[in-house]
Amino acid sequence: MSRLDSFIRRLEAQRLCLDWAVSSLDAPGAVLELGLGNGRTYDHLRERIAGGRPIYAFDRHLAAHPACVPPAETLCLGELRETLPAFAAKRVPVALAHADLGSGDAAATAALAAWLGPMLARVVGDGGLVLSDQPLDAPQLRRVEPPAGVPADRYFVYRRG
Ligand SMILES: C[S@@+](CC[C@H](N)C(=O)[O-])C[C@H]1O[C@@H](n2cnc3c(N)ncnc32)[C@H](O)[C@@H]1O
Repeated sequence: MSRLDSFIRRLEAQRLCLDWAVSSLDAPGAVLELGLGNGRTYDHLRERIAGGRPIYAFDRHLAAHPACVPPAETLCLGELRETLPAFAAKRVPVALAHADLGSGDAAATAALAAWLGPMLARVVGDGGLVLSDQPLDAPQLRRVEPPAGVPADRYFVYRRG
């Protein structure tokens, strides 16, 4: 498979998972976008999430398209290992976390994912959903089938509790 095909399939899987998660949200709480990047998936969530749920966006630096820059009060800039524990300390209820943090550095990506699983298990409320471009591991996160059309191991879906 060409890299272009692989890229397109990853984005299709990402969109299917985001749309499925938005339509499956039954717990109250905020949404976390971990890896704001260009802001594409943030913009998608923002367009589809109803009911005034805040969307907190995290990245080490701001590189989003000008039309996709979150309001200052929901923008968390800095290293995730610092900003996410600081956010957790505020005990904001969270219903959905989307992690899109993968980079070309496979070792760093895997190390971050190993830290992130247990951290998200603390942050996301019972019944909440976690979507991730990387596999996560925490006893409280139960892996669930991704929506139809998402190939196995292309995107990872978990429900807490
Ligand atoms: C694949 S991009 C996100 C793309 C974005 N979701 C979009 O649709 O435009 C990954 C982002 O994660 C951020 N990131 C990766 N590791 C991070 C870390 N340890 N702390 C904070 N941000 C991190 C990078 O700076 C990068 O902007």
